[in-house]
Amino acid sequence: MITLNFTDTGLILPSKSSTNMGIYMILFHTSIMEIQNVVVIGSGTMGSGIAYVAATAGYNVTIVDQKQEFLDKGMSKIKQKLKEGIERNKMSPAEAQKISQKFKTTTNTAEAAQSADLVIEAVFENMDVKKEIFSTLSANASSETILASNTSTLSISEIATVVDNPERVVGMHFFNPPEAMKLVEVVIGEKTSDATKEIATNFAQDIGKTAIPAKDSPGFIVNRLLVPMLNEAIKLYDEGVASIEDIDQAAVLGADFPAGPFTLADMVGLDVALASMRTLERELGDCYAPSPTLVEKVENGKLGMKTGEGFHNYS
Ligand code: NAI
Repeated sequence: MITLNFTDTGLILPSKSSTNMGIYMILFHTSIMEIQNVVVIGSGTMGSGIAYVAATAGYNVTIVDQKQEFLDKGMSKIKQKLKEGIERNKMSPAEAQKISQKFKTTTNTAEAAQSADLVIEAVFENMDVKKEIFSTLSANASSETILASNTSTLSISEIATVVDNPERVVGMHFFNPPEAMKLVEVVIGEKTSDATKEIATNFAQDIGKTAIPAKDSPGFIVNRLLVPMLNEAIKLYDEGVASIEDIDQAAVLGADFPAGPFTLADMVGLDVALASMRTLERELGDCYAPSPTLVEKVENGKLGMKTGEGFHNYS
């Protein structure tokens, strides 16, 4: 069990007293709070994966989405991940059964917030939607609950403006798929406290990730590098330099990429890639403008693997 002691001066005294049990003891001022209950908001590509990783590490996980049908879809992805876990000998059927009992689902954000020790928001990449959620969390969660956003590019400092005590707001940026990707960028907003940064870092490590801190800046580290590259690949195609298949293959063979940029963009979700480019363009300038073909794909609902078609066809 990992113990984090917080004092009034903000001093943190972490100590690891035994192996991964999925629980943190946190001393806030003079009270002790255990991080046991994680609430994940959004059961899409990222939310379902983050929920799976947290439950596998021993946490109780409540997943929130707008409609029951979205929650059902998220839970069926989680069941599939558990099935694959058994097939790959990562867990026994009994362990998978135990993990599956760690999940609850609800469409009520306010109610879920009340019992949360840590909330990880993973809804659409839209500032207004995220602010509405964080304001509900601020009104309903305990003042000690850590509020994290999995945003790819949006400002953590801006999200925190709707929260009463913004020092507990932090970015926890997972990568896709969360169960396989080792990195979590811990994004430090203007008001994020050292204690919150430490909790987010220790939680990420406890669920088997490497946490790398980044200042709140558009795209943080990885997406500032990655998404403009995906956009540039689409521009190459638009300019007729090469076909989609050839650009993918060239990147794999010539740059040793594990997957070509179009395959990766389809995996990320073209709506997510577009939203990221729009943030970079708005914050950093016109050279980050999204390719017209990317815009067109999103307007036509061709969002990549999750809709069955993006730059490649998955049906
Ligand atoms: P997604 O479109 O697959 O899922 C979003 C989910 O949020 C949907 O199920 C939707 O119904 C739900 N949702 C929307 N508004 C809601 C609300 N008000 N209350 C509850 N649920 C709500 O999106 P995805 O790809 O999972 O992305 C989520 C976040 O994670 C975004 O901020 C994105 O930038 C970020 N992200 C995405 C990555 C990717 O590769 N797709 C990687 C890392 C971060």
